[in-house]
Amino acid sequence: MVGKAHPTVLNFIFHNQRDIDYQMTVSKIREELNNLLPQLTAELAQISQLDQLSQLKVKYLGRKGPLSAILRKLGALSAEDRPMIGQLANIVKTQMEEKLAQAEISLAARHQDEKLAQETIDITLPGRVPEIGRIHPITKTIHEVCAIFQNLGFQIAEGPEIETDFYNFEALNIPAHHPARDMHDTFYLQNNLLLRTHTSPVQIRVMEKQAPPLRIIAPGKVYRRDADITHTPMFHQVEGLLVDKTVAFSDLKGTLTVFIQRMFGAGTALRFRPSYFPFTEPSAEVDIACVICSSRGCRVCKGSGWLEILGAGMVDPAVFRMVNYDPEEYTGFAFGMGIERIAMLKYGVDDIRLFFENDLRFLRQF
Ligand code: PHE
Repeated sequence: MVGKAHPTVLNFIFHNQRDIDYQMTVSKIREELNNLLPQLTAELAQISQLDQLSQLKVKYLGRKGPLSAILRKLGALSAEDRPMIGQLANIVKTQMEEKLAQAEISLAARHQDEKLAQETIDITLPGRVPEIGRIHPITKTIHEVCAIFQNLGFQIAEGPEIETDFYNFEALNIPAHHPARDMHDTFYLQNNLLLRTHTSPVQIRVMEKQAPPLRIIAPGKVYRRDADITHTPMFHQVEGLLVDKTVAFSDLKGTLTVFIQRMFGAGTALRFRPSYFPFTEPSAEVDIACVICSSRGCRVCKGSGWLEILGAGMVDPAVFRMVNYDPEEYTGFAFGMGIERIAMLKYGVDDIRLFFENDLRFLRQF
């Protein structure tokens, strides 16, 4: 009696040579797949360099590698074997990828350790000295000027660099078409706006908001269309304004004398020359004895022994009326000075453009 064969055993019963060949191919593929991971593992154990690792990656997982070759043969397998072998191939592929990734991490770590072990620190090497900035000579001069006036009781005020025609000219008693506008080569913007040509508009802005008495100093940037060794299109001014009852021209003289002598030294002589500004009456230009040649006459003072340093005067009653101050009750003085000019004299700089070229060899000297 022929017993019933177990179904799995049936698989091994071959009826002809083609079946035998086929089954041999399948088990060979299976065996090949199962061998891949141990082979790779063995090879990985031999290597020490990352470039060797990428060679192995190409060898096992590349288009010309064993895995790709097996996958190409899948089509020749039977419908039952194809998914089985395909699945096995995928598992082996994933395992090899993981193995390679792990190896890469440990190789990189080993590489790093070796490098660190070789590296030594030279503790005798001097440290890097950090570059420390410094105050720009113009800023420094503004601080010095303001400090002197703050000690005299003046407060700092500020105004915008983009001004209206009204504050820059009109309210300072410079109506449209007034010839005094020609002294200012103005940068005009749209809509009646302009870059302020002086700090005097701050006088108006302060008086509009504050009732007298007041003492203010207003430093800031101003702009004129001008460029040569004594002019830059942007420069700095400090404006001063004092309003009170019974302020006299002698107060202006005394205040400026104290300022000049604190700024340039106790013995510095100054003189007032009559001048004209639409917003002051009377007006003066103030000169100091040339600090370069001690009044002997030089290139800077053009042989005169004197240097023009600021404009000043008693506030014109027309300006007071603009801000609703009563000119019968109040008087005041105002002055305006160019900071670059003062810095050039104080530090002996002969070209104004040096201040704005940002040459560290120049700036380091202050
Ligand atoms: N604003 C004048 C100028 O820039 C200087 C000045 C200020 C003169 C205040 C008198 C009073 O030239």
